[in-house]
Amino acid sequence: MIRSIVKGVGAYLPEKILTNEDMARLVDTSDEWIVTRTGIRQRHIAADDEMTSDLAIAAAKQALENADVDAKDIDLIVLATATPDQTFPATAATVQSALGIKQGAAFDLQAVCSGFIYATATADNFIKAGQSKNCLVIGAETFSRILDWEDRGTCVLFGDGAGAIVLQAGEGTGDNSDRGVLTSYLRSDGDYRDLLYVDGGPSSTQTVGHLRMEGPEVFKHAVRNIADAITTAVESVGLTIADVDCFVPHQANLRILQATAKRLSIPDEKVITTVASHGNTSAASVPLALYEGVQRGDIHDGSLILLEAMGGGFTWGSALIRW
Ligand code: UT7
Repeated sequence: MIRSIVKGVGAYLPEKILTNEDMARLVDTSDEWIVTRTGIRQRHIAADDEMTSDLAIAAAKQALENADVDAKDIDLIVLATATPDQTFPATAATVQSALGIKQGAAFDLQAVCSGFIYATATADNFIKAGQSKNCLVIGAETFSRILDWEDRGTCVLFGDGAGAIVLQAGEGTGDNSDRGVLTSYLRSDGDYRDLLYVDGGPSSTQTVGHLRMEGPEVFKHAVRNIADAITTAVESVGLTIADVDCFVPHQANLRILQATAKRLSIPDEKVITTVASHGNTSAASVPLALYEGVQRGDIHDGSLILLEAMGGGFTWGSALIRW
């Protein structure tokens, strides 16, 4: 059967860093509160002239180089973002042009913090259907542009960044030992859309709006939904949680990662955490963590890795990949 194999991974973080001490000069907060409640110590912030596409292009170039795949062979770009450069055209089209790609399709996908999982599942299905052979899957965000910098309950939590992978069609036997995406699981429940949202948009207010969140409510659902995403994915292919070598979770809050790990008896050393240095980068968070896992040597050929995320919508999901 056709499998979508990860050939390379790339990442980009803007140069500017805002520490918790910097945040305490902007709003009524403290390093102690932020670290205790979230595990975040700093976040990267895009420069005034840096757009989501710039971050995405940098991550995509690195992923292509790492994959040893020529940009001209890419026939699909799926870019997950909730902070596009413009309402349209898609930021993916800007990336396509910047990389000199003259074939295939490019589009944006909007599932907020779960965006990279949705984009991976989408590209995997294009590959399995025989419609694409080499896909760039990107998560890129400039959440700093949609934060209310006077709301201490949200502005301390998020940061900017981008991550990307190259998925390539390959042959597999169809069993769990195959390299590539073994399964993906996507969920949403729009009844909860008022717990995490942006209070603006082209059709409602004709403004971009600011992020609003009922933090404690989202927290409760996050632990439950992430546990659902993990168990459903591994069980669907006849594996167990113990078989997974490395968990690559969405990085919203260290306490969510720890509570999920405890609930599912996952040892801490199997969980990649980047939240301390990146904050929550929404759709960029999972590929940035993936990049970190590869750099640290925790993810290598043959590793069974599980990506998972949960975010606005609500949306949540997972992807189980043999590296
Ligand atoms: O990526 C998508 C998914 N997102 C998430 O998963 C986020 C989920 N939620 C969370 O991570 C947590 O709920 C937060 C980190 C957002 C908040 O932590 P919490 O422990 O749930 O705190 P809280 O919202 O219940 O607030 C506790 C107190 C409040 O004061 P009072 O009412 O107890 O006097 C807040 O006003 O902390 C106060 N507070 C702050 N204090 C200092 C809220 N933000 C801050 C702040 N600095 N930045």
